[in-house]
Amino acid sequence: MIEFRNVSFSIPTSDGGWRAVLDDISFTLARGAITCLIGTSGSGKTTLLRLMAGLGKPDEGEILIDGQDIVPMTERQLNEVRREMGFVFQYSALFDSMSVGENVGFGLERQKKSPAEIAPIVSGLLHDVGLAGIEDKRPSQLSGGMKKRVAMARALATSPQIILYDEPDSGLDPVMTRVIDDLIVGLRETKQTTNVVVTHNIESVRRIADYVLMVHDSRIVAQGTYAEIQASDSPVVQQFLAGEAHGPILL
Ligand SMILES: Nc1ncnc2c1ncn2[C@@H]1O[C@H](COP(=O)(O)OP(=O)(O)OP(=O)(O)O)[C@@H](O)[C@H]1O
Ligand SMILES: [Mg+2]
Repeated sequence: MIEFRNVSFSIPTSDGGWRAVLDDISFTLARGAITCLIGTSGSGKTTLLRLMAGLGKPDEGEILIDGQDIVPMTERQLNEVRREMGFVFQYSALFDSMSVGENVGFGLERQKKSPAEIAPIVSGLLHDVGLAGIEDKRPSQLSGGMKKRVAMARALATSPQIILYDEPDSGLDPVMTRVIDDLIVGLRETKQTTNVVVTHNIESVRRIADYVLMVHDSRIVAQGTYAEIQASDSPVVQQFLAGEAHGPILL
């Protein structure tokens, strides 16, 4: 379970003041669910995911991962928590000096697994993301969408209980988006992973989300099932879901 209690996060502004990126955010995400985090560009989605992984501290509030507040934790304690987490960064962040296979196997090697144990896991994961047999390629030889999927395979390698995906579908064609969606749903079914997925793709949200959070102007403006979000009477939510602006742009 992931719980935010009255979390606020600000950044310094050029005139010496502060600007709230997240303001008094509270929500609870059930274990084993797929939560989609939506909102316009710059609304604070990546910031929220980073706080969830302990990559940055909020100014106020508590962030509970399976009941433990990670805010006061030391880096060493955070590393323990992160051991159960996988993170697919918005910009795939592969290690360019390593092959694809070494990238995907990175976490397993850190767990001191042998090459003979790592190889079949890596090839299975690459197969799952539609990239079988590319172990020996370098990240620089891959397209953006391929890098994204390698990053996803890397995040899954250590079988984390919580997986945070920052736009896993950006730069992917509709067929690959579907493959990634099915993979996320499959992980939830087979391993009961808790998944938080930032996406701009409303079709994916409709397909995979058990729960939806929408961030706007530093606050959560809607949360609930997709059907509940759809029924929201907030014009901002309606405009986002419609993906088009009739009249003034509210977002
Ligand atoms: N470390 C930081 N330093 C300065 N500004 C930051 C920092 N982190 C976030 N911001 C600002 O906070 C706001 C939210 O950024 P964030 O990356 O969380 O948005 P986002 O919802 O993920 O956007 P996108 O959909 O474009 O990825 C932006 O205005 C951004 O410029
Ligand atoms: Mg982002």
